[in-house]
Amino acid sequence: MSRPVQAFYTPAGTPDLPTISHAEGPYLWDVDGKRYLDAASGPVVTNIGHGNANVIAAMKDQLDACVFASRTAFVNDPNRDFSTRLSELCGPGLDVCFPTSGGSEAIEACLKFARQVAHARGQSGRWKVLSRNPSYHGSTLGALSVTGDDEAHDMFGPMMAAMPKFPAPFTYRIPDGETAAGWPGKTLDRLEETILREDPETCLAVIVEPVGGLATGALVSDEAYYVRLREICDRYGLLLIFDEIMSGAGRTGRFLAADHWPAARPDLVGLAKGLSAGYAPLGAMMAPAAMVEEVAAAGGFLHGHTYVANPLVCAAGLAVLEETRRLDLIGNAAIMGEKLDEALRRVMAASPIVGDTRGKGLLRAIELVADQATGSMFPLETDITRRVSLSAMKNGLIVYARRTSRGVYGEWVMISPPLTLDDALLEELESRLAATLDDVAAGLRTDGFL
Ligand SMILES: Cc1ncc(COP(=O)(O)O)c(C=O)c1O
Repeated sequence: MSRPVQAFYTPAGTPDLPTISHAEGPYLWDVDGKRYLDAASGPVVTNIGHGNANVIAAMKDQLDACVFASRTAFVNDPNRDFSTRLSELCGPGLDVCFPTSGGSEAIEACLKFARQVAHARGQSGRWKVLSRNPSYHGSTLGALSVTGDDEAHDMFGPMMAAMPKFPAPFTYRIPDGETAAGWPGKTLDRLEETILREDPETCLAVIVEPVGGLATGALVSDEAYYVRLREICDRYGLLLIFDEIMSGAGRTGRFLAADHWPAARPDLVGLAKGLSAGYAPLGAMMAPAAMVEEVAAAGGFLHGHTYVANPLVCAAGLAVLEETRRLDLIGNAAIMGEKLDEALRRVMAASPIVGDTRGKGLLRAIELVADQATGSMFPLETDITRRVSLSAMKNGLIVYARRTSRGVYGEWVMISPPLTLDDALLEELESRLAATLDDVAAGLRTDGFL
């Protein structure tokens, strides 16, 4: 079969994607020898780049020692060392690590753990987890229930508990009559109204992506937003969960995006993607030691997976964290993030189809628009994100773009290169991206959309 997993996504007859041959640093080569610069780190995963010799060596050592030992029979050192290191990086209050095999599992763990904390405190009436619309927290049914995506909810809604939503604090294409400065605060008014309407005693937690991913195009707010969000949670006794699946592990120029706003510390954090940088399937929930004790004393966490704390995967994660430190990739993300922002602003100024660029560190996006002056979107049949992805591949560039929430909130392209980005790579990224957008604009003119 020429389209192994792709067969689930597109009908027979859909043109094949290139087949991967090998990868090194920020580059991937297909079997025909064509080279691609990865401007998105896959779906924001390969933070340290491909082929890192130290990570590979650590994994080989662990392969020789032991690849699997169940948590029900053994403690394993890679799990212990990875958890200790991660807890140091996350800082006080996020002390204990529950490792998972990916982001959705990490969010499931956060939701179920939060529920058990409430139960242990005699607050069993609390179960509702409020989240933003749009948002993305994963594809398993629990994580999907807090995801704000109407298309997914139309399909799977009957199989999930309906969780209350409040609006995402967009700063571009905001509702009529609102201002970019005022709208984020109003979305928090809506959060508070929703908590009161639902009955605070039934509300368990609020979950947000502190810096958005594909669901909002790297949306980020100012400090006042996060501080007030924290205050609202405290006022009504809700836990605050940060989904840092994309924004964590150094991507925004701090280990956690939460570190940018110390006055708004979350209670629980979900991590994945860059945490193991693609070397092994790894995610994590970080929780305060006191809460872990409460849940353990009340009978233990009613949750787990066969591969939880797998030694090989934890060894990969530990080695990735060590490389992140050794190469000062977090500091580099902060510095290169500013330069990437400038580059994307130049790209926006030169292209008629980019209306906004935003983000933090090396987690950034450009927003695709039919008209820069009005910010109007392309008609859906334009399939603009697909046009950009395919054209980028032709130009030897990989971006991460896919329509979410039926495209009603906007369509954007993630620009999130590996944290190893340097000036030369940025120059190459900028010129390939500019060429891609020129090609897309030319195609849109030919097809009468521009
Ligand atoms: C913010 C966010 N949360 C959760 C997930 C789910 O992670 P995974 O695909 O590893 O299950 C993703 C994946 O893109 C994500 O971006």
